[in-house]
Amino acid sequence: MINDGALRGRQVHYFQETGSTNDLAREAALSDGEPDVLFIAESQSKGRGRLNRTWFSPPGTGLYFSLILSPALDLRDYPKLTLAAGVALCRSLKGYVANPGLKWPNDLLLAGKKTAGILSETVRGKKSTPLVILGIGININEPGRKFPAELAEQINTVEAVCGRPLPRGELLDRVLLNIDDLLNLIEKHGFDPVLDEWRHYDICKGRTLTWLTTEGQTVKGLSLGIDNQGLLKIRDREGVVHEVASGDIITRPV
Ligand code: BTN
Repeated sequence: MINDGALRGRQVHYFQETGSTNDLAREAALSDGEPDVLFIAESQSKGRGRLNRTWFSPPGTGLYFSLILSPALDLRDYPKLTLAAGVALCRSLKGYVANPGLKWPNDLLLAGKKTAGILSETVRGKKSTPLVILGIGININEPGRKFPAELAEQINTVEAVCGRPLPRGELLDRVLLNIDDLLNLIEKHGFDPVLDEWRHYDICKGRTLTWLTTEGQTVKGLSLGIDNQGLLKIRDREGVVHEVASGDIITRPV
């Protein structure tokens, strides 16, 4: 499934089935501390997403992988890598689908439904070097086993939108190459060009949405888009502008 060109010297660990590639990558980062290692699985029994959600990972249809990165960046900039990964996904889908969209911070949507997600985690490797685990899950082809009923309404596959099944290896190559290109761009020019590109795919700006804070509060307001730190700005009914760095964003009525 993997083309050597896209690997560019990365070490690959391939599994038919595992719990979670992010867990494997985290263990490796903590023990070896080596960056540029890719963990990829055909299926995951404990695939997980942001906010402790489950990532449905049936065999043979999606891509589930985690990359260990050691970016030459300030630690404060690490959360922006999630946004950069979203841009890499949108770039990779060009030619397959017309309008990929991004929802802050980590969702890729096709036709308004979640199709891919990014789970970025930071760990301290050997000699306490910070490493980023960039976990990506993409629903590519329609699974034989249907998505669980509670998910089916809200999620999509690339196949459903582009009308034909896609070679997963080809998409993996594209995503890995685009991640490399964006990391190079960031190292040379900082995050501004990437954040601008992210804004181009932002499907929430100008829409009313609900922010569920990590403390359990609900804030309803208008999305003003992301700022130069990659934080989401929401203006509530009283005119107060909130800078959102965590929590959940809900676009459907609650
Ligand atoms: C989200 O949408 O909240 C993020 C989903 C991330 C899923 C991927 S699949 C590969 C990697 N392993 C995991 O357990 N999660 C990520």
